[in-house]
Amino acid sequence: MKIRLQFGDVVVELFGGPSHTLADVAAQAGRPLSMLCGGRGRCGRCRVVLRSGRFLVDGRPVEASVDHPIPSLACRTGPAGPLCEVDIPPTSLNDAAGRIT
Ligand code: FES
Repeated sequence: MKIRLQFGDVVVELFGGPSHTLADVAAQAGRPLSMLCGGRGRCGRCRVVLRSGRFLVDGRPVEASVDHPIPSLACRTGPAGPLCEVDIPPTSLNDAAGRIT
C-alpha cells in the first residue's frame, strides 16, 4: 500500500501494510509525531486528516475522499487501500529539538 504523507509543502511517499499505523509511517519518514500518551488514543496530539483512500480506524473501515476528509488519530489509524493520502498538520509533529509542538 502506498501512503502519501503531506507535511505542508513537502510530500513523502512510503509503503506500509495494515499492521502499520500512520504514526509508524510518519516516524519511518523521519517526521515523528507528538505522542504524549504513547499511542493509546488519549492525548489527541497525533491528529491528522485522512484526505483520500481507505483506512482502518480502531479496526473499523473508513473511506476518505477530497469531498469527505476525515480527522483521525494517527496512532489509531492504518492504511487499508492501495493509495492513502494523509495531511499531517505541523501541530502534530514532534519537532527536532524534542520540544512538543
Ligand atoms: S499518541 Fe496520543 S492520541 Fe495518538
